[in-house]
Amino acid sequence: MEGTRFADRLQGMAGNVIRELLKLTQQPDIISFAGGMPSPDAFPNEVLSDLAEELLLTKKVAMLQYGESEGYYPLREWIASWVSEKGIKASPEEVIILSGSQQGIDLSGKIMLNPGDKVAVEAPTYLACINIYKMYEAVFVTAPNDEVGLDVEALEEVIEREKPKLLYLVPTFQNPTGRTMPLERRQALAELLTRHDIVLVEDDPYGDLRYEGEPVPAVKSMDVTGRAIYLGSFSKLISPGLRVGFAIARPEIARKLVLGKQTTDTHASQLAQALVYEFCSRGYLKDHLKRICAMYDAQRRKMKEMIDLYMPKSIKWSQPEGGMFYWGVLPEGIDAKVLMKEAIEEKRVAFISGESFFADGSGQNTLRLNFSNSSIEKIEKGMKALAEVFNKYM
Ligand SMILES: Cc1ncc(COP(=O)(O)O)c(C=O)c1O
Repeated sequence: MEGTRFADRLQGMAGNVIRELLKLTQQPDIISFAGGMPSPDAFPNEVLSDLAEELLLTKKVAMLQYGESEGYYPLREWIASWVSEKGIKASPEEVIILSGSQQGIDLSGKIMLNPGDKVAVEAPTYLACINIYKMYEAVFVTAPNDEVGLDVEALEEVIEREKPKLLYLVPTFQNPTGRTMPLERRQALAELLTRHDIVLVEDDPYGDLRYEGEPVPAVKSMDVTGRAIYLGSFSKLISPGLRVGFAIARPEIARKLVLGKQTTDTHASQLAQALVYEFCSRGYLKDHLKRICAMYDAQRRKMKEMIDLYMPKSIKWSQPEGGMFYWGVLPEGIDAKVLMKEAIEEKRVAFISGESFFADGSGQNTLRLNFSNSSIEKIEKGMKALAEVFNKYM
């Protein structure tokens, strides 16, 4: 509609590049390393179908009636006990169920940010967080990421100079780089939160997808002063379509998150929450994770093998021990967008250039490859074709 007077905050907001790309990659002849989706072979359809039937027939009202904004209590209890195995101490009351963990990013902006407030993010960071905090008219300040993730000393300088109110991080198998912050940096970060009185949004949707190496405890487990909001998700573990995630925060913050959620969508789907609860509490999750981790590990190894065999040696790649992504840094001056366009148009292979993951607009020579959504055969075929494009430019 011509002349519609939209809110000022929408100015300069582009559509989500990944969502736009995903539309294109739905064409059947495209091999896509662009999105961040689970494998189509990863979904536990039969078990969920049986559980859904049972739930709808035995909890006839609860499944279809309105529920509590805080979430389905049995699931909150189960999550509190599950995260205690990861060192996070939380009562069920401190666990708020969300319609996907992305809602937690949104709610953190909604409850914390006034227009013009500063948010510190890694460079690069999760693309959607940039758009979300822009919606709350935040100003971004960035801290650099090195081979093992966020550089905490550089972050402290940024904090002292810019005084951000909020810090958003994906410390484990980061999207987009796949990197994991080591323990010492997490400890330093936890101390820094207290020293500078800053709230951390610790987004952890990939932590349970580890294929090698030892787990590293969440920053939240070291957060003695309650300055971290921990976000978890069942999207990558069970199904993103169910839209079930959660936030863990100290009671004062949890109450505000609930207020924010009430004005957004009242509560997450009752049936989806109950399905996740039954799936997890009856022990299916454990075996399911074993199965999908073995599958993703094979895909990750295949992609690495193809990178080593065919990709130009001048590209620097991350070495993810889990998660869903490889991150590549091309030599300076090469624009990954040009390669992306050519790969899609000439080779029918998609990946995503890295620029949109940088809040400061840098990163033209970077890219992300997803390995979870493509079969071994597609990885083999797609990576060979992609390497032909890359070799042409390097
Ligand atoms: C870092 C990160 N946070 C949040 C999300 C969103 O997850 P959910 O489906 O739980 O909203 C994603 C999804 O790709 C992600 O990569």
